[in-house]
Amino acid sequence: MQKTTTIGFIGAGNMSYALISGLLKNGFSAKNIRLSDKDEVLLSQRQVEFGVETFTDNAQLAAQCEVIILAVKPQILSNVCKEIQVHIHHQPLIISIAAGVKSNDINRWLGGTAPIIRTMPNTPALLGNGATGLVENEAVNNQQKDLAEQILSAVGQCFWVANEDLLDAVTALSGSGPAYFFLMIESMSNAGVALGLDEKMAEKLSIQTALGASMMANQNNESARQLRNKVTSKNGTTQAAIESFQDQNFEAIVSHAMRVAFNRAKEIGFELGADE
Ligand SMILES: NC(=O)c1ccc[n+]([C@@H]2O[C@H](COP(=O)([O-])OP(=O)(O)OC[C@H]3O[C@@H](n4cnc5c(N)ncnc54)[C@H](OP(=O)(O)O)[C@@H]3O)[C@@H](O)[C@H]2O)c1
Repeated sequence: MQKTTTIGFIGAGNMSYALISGLLKNGFSAKNIRLSDKDEVLLSQRQVEFGVETFTDNAQLAAQCEVIILAVKPQILSNVCKEIQVHIHHQPLIISIAAGVKSNDINRWLGGTAPIIRTMPNTPALLGNGATGLVENEAVNNQQKDLAEQILSAVGQCFWVANEDLLDAVTALSGSGPAYFFLMIESMSNAGVALGLDEKMAEKLSIQTALGASMMANQNNESARQLRNKVTSKNGTTQAAIESFQDQNFEAIVSHAMRVAFNRAKEIGFELGADE
């Protein structure tokens, strides 16, 4: 990344915190990072912790940044965009991390000619282990795509998709996905307790198993199916459990849940863009 690129964050909450921490760890200088929020107390905490310049005026920040990261809640994004609209004649790259809000709506709120990259990070980004889907509009060039990827890589892995429909699919998979795994951990813990294990121990066993299985799957030598087959001995305990899952149509349950999430992502996109 051009370490001299000025990057401005609008919204000083959790995601900005994660991204700024990641950028600083990756050698980016605090003097090129700007941060705005309405909350002066929060801003001064961030200023002390990171040494970045802070603003209570989003427009003032926007006017002096080459990249602007929109990190406010989706419901207030239209107001923020309208606020900065006349301060982005220098055509900064706009990166939105706001869930659900479509590029076309953001572009309309910004005046209609902005280079915009819309992203869908997930909560493990807060630990630097996120998975982020990205999609660009037609005004974005390759250099800007590289820049966005390097910024979002500070909190995990990046995956470009060809269109915004696919970003809704990313939302249904990795965006909402952490909660699916939490549900699995929760269900396995409860089932362990029902089998007589101590509650704390059952929870720790579930979490450690999820972590270990993810690490094995992440080694990339073998597919999840191959790994599963390897640990499923004929007539053994795992086979009995897997067959029980399959009898209950586990794959169909997952597939249906993700379809419902995908459809809801679309609906939310329309709701958030229906401001005029
Ligand atoms: N957290 C995640 O894991 C995650 C994952 C994927 C996507 N996202 C997206 O990332 C975005 C940020 O999420 P977050 O978790 O960081 O939210 P957050 O912690 O609520 O941070 C948003 C910040 O923006 C501030 N703000 C409100 N109005 C503002 C304004 N007009 N100008 C400037 N700042 C303003 C908020 O202040 P107040 O609190 O005082 O309102 C808050 O400090 C959201 O759009 C969310 O959909 C988050």
